[in-house]
Amino acid sequence: MLTNQNILLAISGGIAAYKCAELTRRLKERGANVRVVMTHAAKAFITPLTMQAVSANPVCDDLLDPAAEAAMGHIELAKWADLILVAPATADVIARINAGIANDLLTTVILASDAPLALAPAMNQQMYRAQATQDNIANLTKRGAKIWGPAQGEQACGDVGPGRMPEPMELVQLTELYFAADKGILDGITLTITAGPTREALDPVRFISNHSSGKMGYAIAAAAIDAGASVNLISGKVAIPTPQKAIVTNVDSALEMHAAALSLAPKSDIFIACAAVADYRPVDVADQKIKKSADTMTITMTKNPDIVADVAALTEDRPYTVGFAAETQDVEKYAKGKMQRKNLDMICANDVSKGGQGFNADANALSVFWQGGSEMLPLTDKKQLGKALIALILSQFKRV
Ligand code: C5P
Repeated sequence: MLTNQNILLAISGGIAAYKCAELTRRLKERGANVRVVMTHAAKAFITPLTMQAVSANPVCDDLLDPAAEAAMGHIELAKWADLILVAPATADVIARINAGIANDLLTTVILASDAPLALAPAMNQQMYRAQATQDNIANLTKRGAKIWGPAQGEQACGDVGPGRMPEPMELVQLTELYFAADKGILDGITLTITAGPTREALDPVRFISNHSSGKMGYAIAAAAIDAGASVNLISGKVAIPTPQKAIVTNVDSALEMHAAALSLAPKSDIFIACAAVADYRPVDVADQKIKKSADTMTITMTKNPDIVADVAALTEDRPYTVGFAAETQDVEKYAKGKMQRKNLDMICANDVSKGGQGFNADANALSVFWQGGSEMLPLTDKKQLGKALIALILSQFKRV
């Protein structure tokens, strides 16, 4: 997907710099040309020789090096790039780029380039949360820079929080998605996704529901739209903004979601079931508000149809079908079992036993399985994860 794309990898001085060798190899594997610029501090974490070996190009680290300038000067380098990826992007380099300071080769090349800019912030969580850093990132975003990450989790300094550089594979997927979106590779693809909770009515004012926020499904919908797809979003009641350009069908109950899904799925190339659908609904829905009377109350419930299984069972116009699974143990075994049972092409498993991820959280991690392969998408915010997942779904969908 990255054939002949020129990627300038700009490495600043954070511990995550050691992952740049892996990042470069994975980008090159996909056909990209990679050139590397480094700050002086970056060289304390990974050597220019390593980066030269993996990128197969000389590494530039000095603005005033006559030999390097004679080979490929900094202005040439700035013009060569189709994308500049600053990874890791330290608080310091983010501040300098935002301020337009050009006091080393890396910041000079960025200032001299009109190439799209992506930054993968990596720093201590408190430095990331600092107002100065947040203002710098907000300002760069306003100017069109892409911010990839940071991931949440344990940091080299022992702190826990946001500030980890996304894993190399995730940056590769975001890069692929960027170029895919740029070329409109998803133009013409229709994707239908279910998201959020269902509400199963008991009477006109009460219902049975769950804590699904819809954030994961909405993030996937937004990522697919960014990549050029036409997106039908079938949504239960949520309290988050609708992605622009999504064609939304609002539903309450599982039966309504089922009807909408089975009408839209045959017109779609890809169907993703991200909704938290109630397995059962009350048999009787009272016309009037149920009055308080006895000390106990029994509600008889009946099984809801399995929406994703019914889509996967379509014999005509069956879309590439992706399900989700929330598991608390033996994630791989149960997820794969669900994939076979429901006849899915792919399943994305959440480990809901881990804190801070999954239901209602802003971050999530997914173990993704398909017929013949698997990939782990590490803990990151749901927006980034949505992009990585869309890139993964597309890489598999095209092979079917
Ligand atoms: O069987 P389980 O509920 O764990 O399966 C989860 C997957 O199935 C999710 O993709 C969910 O959206 C989908 N599902 C569905 N209809 C149901 C129940 C679950 O589409 N009635």
